[in-house]
Amino acid sequence: MKLFFQQMMAFLIVTLSTLLIIGLVFIQFTTDSVYRNKWHSLQEYADSIFQQSVVLENESADVKEVQVNQLQGIEKLLENQHIHFTIYTMDGNTVSYPTRNTSPKISKKQWESLQKGETLKLRSNVTLQDNKRSITMTEMYKPYFNREGELVCVVSVGSPLSNVQADIQKVQKNLLMTFGFAIFVAIIASYFLSRYLVQRIQKIREAAHKVTEGDFNVKLAPGRNDEIGELSADFNIMTASLKESNDEIKRQEERRRAFMADAAHEMRTPLTTINGILEGLEYDAIPEEDKEESVHLMQRETKRLIRLVNDNLDFERIRTNKISLNRHQINLKQVAQRIAKQLGKKARLENDVIKVDMGNDVMIYADTDRLVQILFNIIQNGIQFTQNGHIVIRGQNVSDGTDIQISDDGIGMTADQVKNIWERYYKADSSRIQTKGESGLGMSIVHELVQVHGGKIDVVSSPEKGTTFKLHFPKQTKKLDG
Ligand SMILES: Nc1ncnc2c1ncn2[C@@H]1O[C@H](COP(=O)(O)OP(=O)(O)O)[C@@H](O)[C@H]1O
Ligand SMILES: [Mg+2]
Repeated sequence: MKLFFQQMMAFLIVTLSTLLIIGLVFIQFTTDSVYRNKWHSLQEYADSIFQQSVVLENESADVKEVQVNQLQGIEKLLENQHIHFTIYTMDGNTVSYPTRNTSPKISKKQWESLQKGETLKLRSNVTLQDNKRSITMTEMYKPYFNREGELVCVVSVGSPLSNVQADIQKVQKNLLMTFGFAIFVAIIASYFLSRYLVQRIQKIREAAHKVTEGDFNVKLAPGRNDEIGELSADFNIMTASLKESNDEIKRQEERRRAFMADAAHEMRTPLTTINGILEGLEYDAIPEEDKEESVHLMQRETKRLIRLVNDNLDFERIRTNKISLNRHQINLKQVAQRIAKQLGKKARLENDVIKVDMGNDVMIYADTDRLVQILFNIIQNGIQFTQNGHIVIRGQNVSDGTDIQISDDGIGMTADQVKNIWERYYKADSSRIQTKGESGLGMSIVHELVQVHGGKIDVVSSPEKGTTFKLHFPKQTKKLDG
């Protein structure tokens, strides 16, 4: 069954059963009060009949006389309302009025109850004299006592039940109409309530449908502060995180695609060179005196390919945390001086000077080989992009570790180039380094290596002025020491 009908049914069942209970209670109550009123007025009639017609012999004796002429007037009056009455004296078998003896007898048991002072309320079937019809009467018997407390007479007053029933029916008819109207209102109200509820759920359903179709931009209005409102809020959170992970998947896919393209591109150049030379050799198109140079060129290109493959593997290993660091306290100045010496020849070719500017006591907590790899890459870049300049290596012990600065006064980079420097295969200007045989992997490897050390790396650079790399390594802690 559709939710809409479920809701409507639920609303209707609740409203209708409430109405039914109230209706039944109300009918019971009005029936009771109609009867109570009836009894009350019958009692009053009995009282006035007794007062007006029964004359006692003296204060303490029996009935002296029943004033019949008084009663005839009353009888006429009550006849219009179909009310009749009887006056019993003595033992209940003697009827003093009316003289025609059609009234029911009072049984012994009833008379005993009356003697105890109880007023009896009975229903009886009476055959009317004129048209011989039998109708049901409500009869009330009331006993009257003298001063001695002796029962002197009983007055019974009866009224046809139809009088009472007519009153009750009138009430029931009104109630039925109210009931019908209430059901009508309940149906309309539950229709709108159910529709409102279902519409709110429908909105969430539509949004969910859009999400399954790949539209992660759907957003539900926050709405009311109830369960459905909370569901909408949760739904928004869910789509937001779905969108985020979807974007991340796209980004990764894009990176993977770019990586494949870049790797292929990087490898094509040396492979094409080698292939060209090999073809030249095969068809003897290379003059004898150039052959040695060609073999050297092939060697250089092969080395470049090997380095490219190694760098790639290295990067992947570092990035997926597959390297283990063997960390010690290292004297930074000694390491820097060793690298400066190793790269001295390369620096002289560019007419550069490498300077190590730090105290002998600068210590750094790092993996020796990886630290060398970091510094080597940065200093090598410095030489590569600086002519007739200086590369200065500074180091300093700070409270929470060690700071290193490597500055050059070379060609520098624009803000845009600085932003991309840690990207794999990024080369700010591919033409200017074509001959140097670099792959664009150096800075990405440096970045990952500094991060696995728990350190930070920053670069400030301006075109034609130079570049400064700022590194920070944290000091040894108990936890890291493992
Ligand atoms: N000291 C520097 N001065 C100027 N540009 C630099 C410097 N270091 C790096 N770059 C720029 O960042 C790019 C990426 O460097 P890197 O990852 O080492 O790749 P590669 O050295 O293979 O070109 C370089 O191509 C260069 O454009
Ligand atoms: Mg480099």
